[in-house]
Amino acid sequence: MIREIVQVGNEILRKKCEPVKRFDAELGKLLDDMKETLRAAEGAGLAAPQIGVPIRAVVVDVEEGYFELINPIFVWQKGEQVGPEGCLSVRGKAGTVRRPSKVKILFQDRNGDKYSIVARDFFARAICHELDHLDGILYTDKAENIRDAEE
Ligand code: CO
Repeated sequence: MIREIVQVGNEILRKKCEPVKRFDAELGKLLDDMKETLRAAEGAGLAAPQIGVPIRAVVVDVEEGYFELINPIFVWQKGEQVGPEGCLSVRGKAGTVRRPSKVKILFQDRNGDKYSIVARDFFARAICHELDHLDGILYTDKAENIRDAEE
């Protein structure tokens, strides 16, 4: 089911999200909805608080594939990249954000199984952006210049 994406100004976007403890059908349904909502919005990533659920779950859809990251944490962050970002919760805007160029994260999948991945370039940027959402941080807090997006 496509869910409504919460927009900036809603306080849920500023919450520190709770870890996922139950890897059950309800979580599966939430992730299915997040995937459908992300695809419909043609975005690169979506965090659970963006559909009003303040838990530590994000989905990322990039060249490298589609990923569901539950309880993700950084192992390390390296390098630096500077590039444009937008957010489905800040419609019509874009900004330039400095991010690490390479990150390693640990996460769980929807079954609770543990994995790690190393991501580079845009994939790393998408992960950093989405993980920030889990701590109530928006890219606009970090962007050097916020402008109207070219759409
Ligand atoms: Co966002």
